[in-house]
Amino acid sequence: MVCIRPATVDDLLAMQACNLCCLPENYQMRYYFYHMLSWPQVLYVAEDYNKKIVGYVLAKMEEDSAEVHGHITSLAVLRSHRKLGLASKLMRASMVAMEETFGAEHVSLHVRVTNRAAFTLYSQSLGFDIHDTESKYYADNEDAYNMRKMFATGLKKQSDAKGKKKEKDAELKDKEPAKDEKKKQEKKGDAVAEEETAKKGDELQKSDGEAAKIDKPAKAEDSAKEDAKDAREDGAETEEAKKKKRRPKKK
Ligand SMILES: CC(C)(COP(=O)(O)OP(=O)(O)OC[C@H]1O[C@@H](n2cnc3c(N)ncnc32)[C@H](O)[C@@H]1OP(=O)(O)O)[C@@H](O)C(=O)NCCC(=O)NCCS
Repeated sequence: MVCIRPATVDDLLAMQACNLCCLPENYQMRYYFYHMLSWPQVLYVAEDYNKKIVGYVLAKMEEDSAEVHGHITSLAVLRSHRKLGLASKLMRASMVAMEETFGAEHVSLHVRVTNRAAFTLYSQSLGFDIHDTESKYYADNEDAYNMRKMFATGLKKQSDAKGKKKEKDAELKDKEPAKDEKKKQEKKGDAVAEEETAKKGDELQKSDGEAAKIDKPAKAEDSAKEDAKDAREDGAETEEAKKKKRRPKKK
């Protein structure tokens, strides 16, 4: 019989031993302490009936980022105890603590792209999705899948954000026809104004034309009259000159 329970400081050495047996990613003891002292709620061990630690999950919280979320630093089960559902139970216990104790919105982890057992566990049994692929993430240059599982809080936040976006879009759509109508009316107003100005322009041109018609003959008449006057004056002068010529010169 194997039980899943929260890890204590006394379990750290056994957790490190299990990690050294199962994975190439190993950590100094102070890194285990750092996790235990900072987030003891999210560390779990699998202990068999002999009090031997046969599996562990080492996890932490990322509280500085925009979204509060948990991160699985390391997970392993001894070869002798695999395929018994222990890793699934360790992961679920840690994830519940992340949500309930810290209000995490999601949990993230890295897994080698060739680690079929772990990838299947995360994607099939636990519902993680690939969020990203990180090139040469591991020391031996192997790529990692950056996987995520959303929690209820995170999902609610996402759907609230979507709802707000939809509302905003709907508001914008409502406003747009009113704007279009206003623009149409403005355009109509401009067209009417243009038409009126054009009409006025025509009228003005017409009246100018008529005025020009009236002016021209008047001017012609005036000049004809002036010509006649000049001619008459010229004529009078000639008559006067003729008389002078006819008058006998005084001696
Ligand atoms: C990956 C690991 C933790 C799985 O532990 P486990 O206790 O055997 O896993 P579980 O029994 O909970 O398995 C749950 C599911 O994972 C998948 N799975 C587990 N081992 C698998 C394997 N060898 N091949 C394919 N799928 C596997 C299955 O879908 C399984 O569900 P099923 O039993 O209904 O088929 C274990 O193999 C291990 O310690 N590996 C070495 C360390 C490691 O890779 N850690 C992960 C680092 S990211």
